[in-house]
Amino acid sequence: MERVSDYLIADHARLRGLLAAAAAGAAVEPEAFAAFRAGLLRHIGIEEKLLFPAVRDGGGAALAERLRALHVEHAAISSLLVPAPDLALCGELAGLLAAHDAQEEGPDGVYEACEVVLGAAASEALGARARAAPAVRPAPHGDRPGLTRTAAEALRLARRPRGA
Ligand SMILES: [Fe+2]
Ligand SMILES: [Fe+2]
Repeated sequence: MERVSDYLIADHARLRGLLAAAAAGAAVEPEAFAAFRAGLLRHIGIEEKLLFPAVRDGGGAALAERLRALHVEHAAISSLLVPAPDLALCGELAGLLAAHDAQEEGPDGVYEACEVVLGAAASEALGARARAAPAVRPAPHGDRPGLTRTAAEALRLARRPRGA
């Protein structure tokens, strides 16, 4: 049985590979990017709907604060998945994801803190649910002018207090 964090860490690598494949040529490769985009939205959904709720009440204020910071970054990442991509946007996504995944992985990462709260049996049960999570069928790309296309702007907007 696989712990939920092992599943999610392997998914990070899979998604990084898809993004690299999408951005490997002179223009964005649409099929690889579509697979990356759907896979990343599914991954964020697993974290937000399965993992975070399972640990939020048992991990104390420090973990809750780290989950809140990741949640804000999920909003920023998702906003960069709205516009039709070009290579520059793929670069912005790669940079934002590298920083984000680094906060989740590793001995001091949020996933390991979640494992401590869950314990082995609950983590393996959650891992099975994560594996079984259905594919996501994302909405078409938006085409409004002025859609956010940089990580810095996406983070600034996601961190802005509501109504500001
Ligand atoms: Fe995440
Ligand atoms: Fe993740």
